[in-house]
Amino acid sequence: MVAYRDLGFVNTREMFKKAGAGGYAIPAYNFNNMEQIQAIVIACVETQSPAILQVSSGARKYANQTLLKYLAQGAVAMMRDLAREKGLSEVPMSLHLDHGDTFELCKSCIESGFSSVMIDGSHHSFADNIALTKQVVEYAHTYDVTVEGELGVLAGIEDEVQAEHSTYTQPEEVIEFVKKTGVDSLAISIGTSHGANKFKLEQCTRNKDGVLVPPELRFDILEEIEKKIPGFPIVLHGASSVSVEAVKIITQYGGVLKDAIGIPEDQLRRAARSAVCKINIDSDGRLWMTALIRKIFAEKPSEFDPRKYLGPARDALITMYKHKNQNVLGSAGKV
Ligand code: G3H
Ligand code: 13P
Ligand code: ZN
Repeated sequence: MVAYRDLGFVNTREMFKKAGAGGYAIPAYNFNNMEQIQAIVIACVETQSPAILQVSSGARKYANQTLLKYLAQGAVAMMRDLAREKGLSEVPMSLHLDHGDTFELCKSCIESGFSSVMIDGSHHSFADNIALTKQVVEYAHTYDVTVEGELGVLAGIEDEVQAEHSTYTQPEEVIEFVKKTGVDSLAISIGTSHGANKFKLEQCTRNKDGVLVPPELRFDILEEIEKKIPGFPIVLHGASSVSVEAVKIITQYGGVLKDAIGIPEDQLRRAARSAVCKINIDSDGRLWMTALIRKIFAEKPSEFDPRKYLGPARDALITMYKHKNQNVLGSAGKV
């Protein structure tokens, strides 16, 4: 058993308390490799933002679960060095399992030093979701690890997270779910979805420049939920904005991303001011990395040093994460 505190992580309880009271959201950025985690640490130290380092089961398979844990541990050490060098404060960091789907996976992460886990029982029946979530909470709380549950289904297709259609969270279910499971935060479905194609064409309109405009998130459902469980930390998954600029660079340099569309940043800002305390962003990082790598491959075809294309990709990630912390989530300066 590795205790997360010994690795320098904190659980999400205090982070969410402050975020709820302060009208901002904590960024939860997924990582699978060194460049992504470097970018998260640099951006969060330089903007003085708390951070949730998020690991999916796909990431654990891709990078090797042991190496990933040491990368996260290294991130704490790097954060401390950077803060000292720059005369800034250290930033609180959580290590979080994203979309855990079994008790065993959550237990394994808790035993290896995660400070927070998500048990995603949203594809089960309400009763089975409660039972599974409760089982994880009981185990996790023994070690003061915080747990995120989910009610409602997000659409979207990725490696490990798949659903054809979304089902909005039903506000009438949240009180019973939160009470019976004892979860610390709740992911809800109000119109966001995973990946770079969050809406179907027929759901969107186009602005005067021909850019797709998605339907607004269901803030009415969010408000209903807030009334049922006042002050309870809410989580938004599928919250990438799918930058038009990044998609343009990808397309310009030979990529094909048909009808890519995300969640407008002003809507995320509005959500962050409410009970939404954690906002999950993965696809935006994937897009910016791809954009820069494609650009360099096209402009410098003789380049074969990975540092020469992964370095600029990492720089683009740093810029993007800083922008999110400062202008979208409002987490900058909140340490
Ligand atoms: O919500 C899912 C995250 O973007 C992680 O995706 O399962 O492909 O690592 P992944
Ligand atoms: P995006 O695909 O919108 O980045 O969502 C990521 C996410 O929800 C991770 O759990
Ligand atoms: Zn998600």
